[in-house]
Amino acid sequence: MNTQPPSAGAADQPPADDTTSSQAPEAHGEATADPAHPSHIRSFVHRRGHITQGQRDALERLLEQWSIAYTPRLLDVTAAFAGRAAPTILEIGFGMGETTEKIALSRPGDNFLGVEVFNAGVGSLLKRIEASAVPNIRIIQHDAVEVVRDMIAPDSLAGVHIYFPDPWPKKRHHKRRLVQPPFIKLLASRLAPGGYLHCATDWENYAQQMLEVLSAEPLLANTAKDYAPRPDYRPQTKFETRGLRLGHGVWDLIFKRVA
Ligand SMILES: C[S@@+](CC[C@H](N)C(=O)[O-])C[C@H]1O[C@@H](n2cnc3c(N)ncnc32)[C@H](O)[C@@H]1O
Repeated sequence: MNTQPPSAGAADQPPADDTTSSQAPEAHGEATADPAHPSHIRSFVHRRGHITQGQRDALERLLEQWSIAYTPRLLDVTAAFAGRAAPTILEIGFGMGETTEKIALSRPGDNFLGVEVFNAGVGSLLKRIEASAVPNIRIIQHDAVEVVRDMIAPDSLAGVHIYFPDPWPKKRHHKRRLVQPPFIKLLASRLAPGGYLHCATDWENYAQQMLEVLSAEPLLANTAKDYAPRPDYRPQTKFETRGLRLGHGVWDLIFKRVA
């Protein structure tokens, strides 16, 4: 399916809380003239990172079969899922893909489009797809901001999952957080009316920002008074279980598109 190598948005390692990048401070959602110099502040940084031989091997063998190359054109989602028309859930930043696989296996009636930039993570999810023969996942290895802006049709998604996005805890890096008003406006416009946006974080300060940003978006309405209980379809990750054991909180937010 994917006939191109990982795109300019691909990264070797997940971002950490530090960056030497100095990109222009424009908002998400604007056109990109040069992919090497995006017009929005990226929520990740490029780094060389560890990738296992198994993940590298999966990238070489399986990327073409299960991924879709980024192109600045609307995606034919049904064609991407081998002709299967089904509600489509977009997951942004799936990390190693453990949650993606579990949810896709437990919801066989939905199509899951996972977007991630991190090579080892994409390799890991490809391995999982092969091992469990889960048929309803496709991957785009690129900056999700550009994927949503350029490839996802307005009013089309049944849901969006953003689980534990990079918290960028230092105040001077908050501008790199994914959940910001311009990107949420763009994302809400891609949801079908009634579609949902589900975010989760273990950073209280980011949870508060998410609640403010999502509540202020006119296309979205909260399904709870503020934070929502974790729904059964979102499995608790190992990382989350450890955090909970250490007394960290976890906050889920589930909003629906109203019109
Ligand atoms: C902290 S990890 C969380 C991973 C996973 N969702 C989980 O719960 O374990 C955040 C992930 O988002 C990815 N990411 C950050 N910004 C992104 C973007 N703009 N487009 C695609 N992936 C992104 C990172 O590479 C990283 O793997």
